[in-house]
Amino acid sequence: MLVSAKEMLQKAKAGHYAVGQFNINNLEWTKSVLLTAQELNSPVILGVSEGAGKYMTGFKTVSAMVKAMIDELNITVPVALHLDHGTYDGCYKCIEAGFSSIMFDGSHYPIEENVEKTKELVAVCKEKGMSLEAEVGSIGGEEDGVIGAGECADPNECKMIADLGVDMLAAGIGNIHGKYPANWQGLSFETLAAVQQLTGEMPLVLHGGTGIPDDMIKKAIDLGVSKINVNTECQLTFAAATREYIEAGKDLQGKGYDPRKLLAPGAEAIKQTVKEKMELFGSVGKA
Ligand code: 13P
Repeated sequence: MLVSAKEMLQKAKAGHYAVGQFNINNLEWTKSVLLTAQELNSPVILGVSEGAGKYMTGFKTVSAMVKAMIDELNITVPVALHLDHGTYDGCYKCIEAGFSSIMFDGSHYPIEENVEKTKELVAVCKEKGMSLEAEVGSIGGEEDGVIGAGECADPNECKMIADLGVDMLAAGIGNIHGKYPANWQGLSFETLAAVQQLTGEMPLVLHGGTGIPDDMIKKAIDLGVSKINVNTECQLTFAAATREYIEAGKDLQGKGYDPRKLLAPGAEAIKQTVKEKMELFGSVGKA
């Protein structure tokens, strides 16, 4: 069932758990995430970066594929199709393509401009019944060309954006896209607590879910995080399982070169990663 992320995140907030956003890259990724969510009776958010959207030939293709797959696979758990780190133009493309949720990442604009553009998108999303995520501060590292310095969010700016009526807010709290460096300082729980105090019941979003220790994830959920984004970890497990298959020479045995066989271990590995994350985030059985 394709829905906006609004209700699932409000339920997560009230129930003290988090819904996972798993970024998708192709048909196998999408299928693995959807089947795991259904098997575990968990709500789920499919994240699509602008780069991944382009790779899949455009947001219309992604939207059509996800809707058809939900139907063909009889997926009854709540699924949101969400633009990840959207530009202003990208947001409008996804609204038109039939996504159910978008993130407008205005964090690199001066706060006044971030407020102005976010405000405009709040009105459009409300009219369309879509959910909207905004960002303040930045997520460190790089994801599909989106680069951030990783500065912690200013709680007062978070309040300004939250007050516009967004459905979820990503606040930079020292989190990083991709692998965490050995000298990483950890999440700033001080910033997280201050942001939540000023933004009240706003569901907060933790980007950079790959590689954050389990105890930090749990503490972040305790302090108000209701959505956690995972991308790199599925890529790493997919790559490792595919490597193992090829290194074992299985592609050379019989019809092991058939893409349905070649990509199967990677697709299974994604399922396992998604399952572990859903268990950690507490969303199992919450559909
Ligand atoms: P990771 O790639 O670090 O898991 O981050 C995902 C993310 O935050 C998507 O926006």
